[in-house]
Amino acid sequence: MRLHLLCVIAMACLAAWAADDKGDAKNPLAGQPEAIAAGKKLFVEGCSGCHGPNGEGGRGPNLAKGDLIRGATDAHLFSAIRNGVPGSDMPPFRMPDEKIWQLVTFIRSLSAPAYESTAPGNPEAGGALFFGQSGCVQCHTIRGRGGVLGPDLSNIGRTRSYAQLREALLDPDAHPTEGFRGVSVLTKDGRTISGVAKDNTNYSIAVLDAQGNLHLLWKKDLREVTFHQKSLMPHDYKQRLSRDQMQDLLAFLGRQSVRVDVPGDEAGPKGDH
Ligand code: HEC
Ligand code: HEC
Repeated sequence: MRLHLLCVIAMACLAAWAADDKGDAKNPLAGQPEAIAAGKKLFVEGCSGCHGPNGEGGRGPNLAKGDLIRGATDAHLFSAIRNGVPGSDMPPFRMPDEKIWQLVTFIRSLSAPAYESTAPGNPEAGGALFFGQSGCVQCHTIRGRGGVLGPDLSNIGRTRSYAQLREALLDPDAHPTEGFRGVSVLTKDGRTISGVAKDNTNYSIAVLDAQGNLHLLWKKDLREVTFHQKSLMPHDYKQRLSRDQMQDLLAFLGRQSVRVDVPGDEAGPKGDH
């Protein structure tokens, strides 16, 4: 009986020690692709029910947005997972250190810029889709080549995480980009002009059409101005693209950077942009 009690106390101490131990510990697996893959598997099994399969949130908070995670230390994330968050729905997970670090690695990968992360797809195949069959190039420019209705994507791998890129493809209305709102105007002399609204005041509106012409129009000359409720970005890529094609496109987008890292050259050459 006594031995049993001692054991309980010893275990409690051990648990407390393990919990407090991480003071300023750094993740020993940081950025390792195998750890991301292993962490993803653990996440899908144990965490996605509350945090969503891609960390997009649900009963638990969004772990992919970055603000919550980028500001947190490795040690804080470790202890949040091992000990849970008292007084909330976040339960403790008593698993080996290595597995917890794998989870931390995966969670960090959700909000890291895509360029600094690894992705399973093939960027060359993704590029072929982008400039070919998928028609992305009709609306998006990369390094001076392409259309103007959507944002220039030449540096998108530096400014967006894979989670954000995936969301842009699968759920285009989730985060509208300023300056790319679809609009159609009907002029009093019967012309219809469609494109994206670049500027809109009480008196005038500037509409950029698919050919790249900017129309500066006075509101008094217009009969109707209709803003699109939905993004101009097609909404059917989820159906049109296979899983592999989606991964290839994401891998291609993730490589887009106007700054190219060259070892030994601190500043790095500028891209043609
Ligand atoms: C039963 C639902 C649930 C499950 C399962 C769950 N979480 Fe959470 N998690 C939450 C909630 C709720 C919060 C917000 C806690 C708070 O109020 O701060 C949270 C917060 C977090 C935080 C942020 C903690 C902080 O202090 O910033 C991390 C990281 C996290 N969870 C990771 C995980 C991981 C990894 C797993 C799987 C091993 C997991 N969660 C499983 C509900 C859950
Ligand atoms: C018909 C025009 C059109 C086509 C075709 C199109 N897009 Fe878009 N895309 C847009 C517009 C417009 C936005 C801005 C979203 C918004 O605010 O509504 C956008 C947004 C995006 C974004 C988010 C950019 C950011 O700043 O976060 C990504 C990434 C993207 N598109 C990739 C693609 C890819 C990859 C394809 C091809 C598979 C594609 N787009 C096809 C018009 C298009």
